[in-house]
Amino acid sequence: MEGYISIWCGVGLYLVVDLEGIKMYWLPLLVGLLASGAYGQLTAQSSVAPALRECYTDTLLQNRNNLPPATINVLIDIIRHVEDAPNVNMGLREIAVSLLHTYRQDGIEYHQPEANLVNNANILPYAPTFHSFHRHRLLLTKLIPNNLQVLENTTLSSPLKCAIHNMLSTTVDARVQGNGNCNQFSQYRALRTARQVSDSDIADDVEILDPALLNSKNRMGQMRQYNPKNDVEYNNYGSARSERQLLGESLCPILTGVVRTFWGEVSAGHLIAGIAAGSESQRVSVLELAKGSVLNYANAQQTVSSVFAATLSGDLAEAVLIQGTERGNPTISIGATGYWNSTQAPKYFMLRNRVNIEMTDPEIRGDIDGYVLGSTLNTPLATYGSLKLSQLLDMYYSRNGVFNLETRACNRRSLMQQYITNANLVTETYTFAAALDTQMPLRGTITGGLDSLVDSAVTNFQTSIMNDLNCGSTESLSIDYRLRTNLYLVIDSTWQFDVIYPAISYLLDSIDVNKFGSSITLLNAFDGSIVINTTWSLADFHSEYTLIKHQSMFTGVNLQTSLTNIRTLMHERLEIDRMHNYVGGNATVLLFLLNSGNLQNNDEIWQQARILNETVPDLRILFTTSTNQMDNLWNLVRDMHQDIHTISLTTTVNHVEALAPTLNRIQQTGRRIINPLCGATYNREINSGSRTFEDFVEPNYINFYAISPNYFYSNNENRRIRISRTGAAMGSLVVCHSRSVTQPRQNATSHGLDENAITCQTIATTGNVEINLRNPCDGFSTINSCPFFYVSVQSTTNGVSTFSATCTDSACRFPYSVRYNVQIEDFGCFSSSASIGASIIVIVASLFINVFRSS
Ligand SMILES: *[C@@H]1O[C@H](CO)[C@@H](O)[C@H](O)[C@H]1NC(C)=O
Ligand SMILES: *[C@@H]1O[C@H](CO)[C@@H](O)[C@H](O)[C@H]1NC(C)=O
Ligand SMILES: *[C@@H]1O[C@H](CO)[C@@H](O)[C@H](O)[C@H]1NC(C)=O
Ligand SMILES: *[C@@H]1O[C@H](CO)[C@@H](O)[C@H](O)[C@H]1NC(C)=O
Ligand SMILES: *[C@@H]1O[C@H](CO)[C@@H](O)[C@H](O)[C@H]1NC(C)=O
Repeated sequence: MEGYISIWCGVGLYLVVDLEGIKMYWLPLLVGLLASGAYGQLTAQSSVAPALRECYTDTLLQNRNNLPPATINVLIDIIRHVEDAPNVNMGLREIAVSLLHTYRQDGIEYHQPEANLVNNANILPYAPTFHSFHRHRLLLTKLIPNNLQVLENTTLSSPLKCAIHNMLSTTVDARVQGNGNCNQFSQYRALRTARQVSDSDIADDVEILDPALLNSKNRMGQMRQYNPKNDVEYNNYGSARSERQLLGESLCPILTGVVRTFWGEVSAGHLIAGIAAGSESQRVSVLELAKGSVLNYANAQQTVSSVFAATLSGDLAEAVLIQGTERGNPTISIGATGYWNSTQAPKYFMLRNRVNIEMTDPEIRGDIDGYVLGSTLNTPLATYGSLKLSQLLDMYYSRNGVFNLETRACNRRSLMQQYITNANLVTETYTFAAALDTQMPLRGTITGGLDSLVDSAVTNFQTSIMNDLNCGSTESLSIDYRLRTNLYLVIDSTWQFDVIYPAISYLLDSIDVNKFGSSITLLNAFDGSIVINTTWSLADFHSEYTLIKHQSMFTGVNLQTSLTNIRTLMHERLEIDRMHNYVGGNATVLLFLLNSGNLQNNDEIWQQARILNETVPDLRILFTTSTNQMDNLWNLVRDMHQDIHTISLTTTVNHVEALAPTLNRIQQTGRRIINPLCGATYNREINSGSRTFEDFVEPNYINFYAISPNYFYSNNENRRIRISRTGAAMGSLVVCHSRSVTQPRQNATSHGLDENAITCQTIATTGNVEINLRNPCDGFSTINSCPFFYVSVQSTTNGVSTFSATCTDSACRFPYSVRYNVQIEDFGCFSSSASIGASIIVIVASLFINVFRSS
């Protein structure tokens, strides 16, 4: 049990007692700042917080095209950066609170300076003036106050800081964007697979937009009685018309603070606020919230729940107050749909409406998720006290959920019904609206009828987000294995950036680049040099790979220099593996994604490919090119029919379809199991002896391995691998192997595989499975012709309803991952470089082709 007790010792000192180590620290807090109560609340003040200002002044950071995309995986990655930062030693609760206080500032808007202010270096034309700021200020100062220091400015790099600020902070940018044409999104329609649409509910549709339906249903109908020219700003500065009158000009205002997940767009600030509020859940006195003001509503409750106000009742109250005073309509409209203008690189989320946007769909989802996770936080923390915020989110937005299959995003609608009662929501909303009314400037005064407005809002909330995907349909759309592939991606800079960037972004999402999964290394096809060094961080990759970086790459493709340098790089990596006694666990793929036509191939190039083939046997080389280059490339890959693809990429292409064959090849490349002593030299005498590595599999997931014949070509009677469980965990492990099926599994027939080619064994709670590798290459005269040995390890948890926390060290992605050992016995080192025969056939064949082509 890990734990801390903080004792407030008066004059700016905290005594922190670490229960485990019985250590004590004195944390000096800045007395002056504490006295003013302002230290943690610079983001609650009515100017842009100092540490966030560079996100609005630096032109690179201001442009979201230079920042990582707003996806839940990027958000989790950035939170991991914070959790892993050397000076941040905080638990889940403190991290959630600190993230809010450091990076969230709602409602920041651009204000066009008057002519004479242009270029005034002392004025930043941004300020938190949008309505969402007022609730935000109450949140940070009264509902989730922070006695801790905010995170240091150096915790995150500037691009990551601005990215998380944008992901957490809700505001609307109503300036006219780009060419002002919002109706170019029909092309993205096809991309949205993750959504069910029923005819009756088209009006509630979120991400799919069918222009035909749009026209027939006149979705913008509400705007008829809304004349932009009448949209006078309440916070008009000076006598000139505020630039916020431009609200009427942009048909597609950008909603900030939105993060894409597989289960719909989520306002991450609301999500984290719910968790933070839940972590120190309290009832806050309404008089305290309304400090200095007179409450208008006599029949309001005395207190509000901080978790409700941070999430659902907060947004409902905003909608009630603003719509109630501005539109005078007795019906409060809840929910507003939007879309990303690029689904593969989600950076700008455009709303389809300019009015009634106080509680948009992403906010609804963020509120529900934040409320559910926040109000039930004690349950997962009781299961695993050292649970990290990144793990909580990773579990909730995954197939396995937060220690059970109930608490997960795909189950949102039933969680909402389970945890949120109508009566509670009405009371909390009414009371918080009364408090917020004293804090937020409105364009009218509510003199009565607040309760019916609240009723209307809550009723409409109940029928929102009806079309979100449920668990059943998402499971059929996702795979039950995770990749751990070191992907070396070689690109040439003749690709247009806005064509190649979304494609790369999609690939990285699909191969699960993260600290516990795949890595990405970006190389230049001009010479094979490193453009972006190996990283397991999506956020770091995206903040480095920008238009400027792309344009600074040397142009052209030189396969000879590239392959020579890549061969050297791969040999270095093998030597590093040898040094570290690395036995396996990751796959390696080299993917050339090329736009240049007419690639030059020659004998020298083929020689490099051959050496790679023979000395880096676990490397899968793939070519995906924009024109058919089969004739030039066929002799550089292992399997010319499956490893070479032609792709047609454009800015509007459906990446899911276009990249499917390439992605499939990457997915089929199993994690390697090697004899680390071989290095790049394959000295025959070296026997691995007995070696092990540890691996992890999530409940109901499966890991695939591939062992190259280079480690077992000549027979050794004792050669085998052994899979054994380590540590207690629920369920069984099923170990399968095959010589022909790259992804062997039980019940193979239902997956379209050949059952007879697969052998499976089960490990119950203890024990192990041994697979002998005796005479595995009998009948094959060359190493190259002898097939790989494929192994899989699957976790099955039939009948287990609650997962326990058995994987608690830093190597575990999920606390409920199941761990096991892979042991190898007497692996050898065999290289085909001696099998000249095979090589000569290929040389003759390539000569023949050349003669044939030139004649
Ligand atoms: C935070 O760091 C950035 C760059 O590292 C710097 O430009 C900025 O001024 C710093 N902000 C504060 C408030 O220290
Ligand atoms: C999305 O919209 C933003 C803002 O208007 C623009 O900068 C960006 O280029 C657009 N992206 C695409 C793919 O259209
Ligand atoms: C294998 O993957 C793990 C987790 O992603 C990573 O920590 C490790 O460094 C990788 N090893 C190699 C040799 O790539
Ligand atoms: C890439 O990273 C490795 C390991 O951190 C380092 O040794 C190497 O110098 C880096 N290469 C480049 C080009 O930055
Ligand atoms: C690499 O090995 C495979 C057999 O595994 C063989 O079919 C292919 O021709 C080889 N490629 C090269 C470039 O040597």
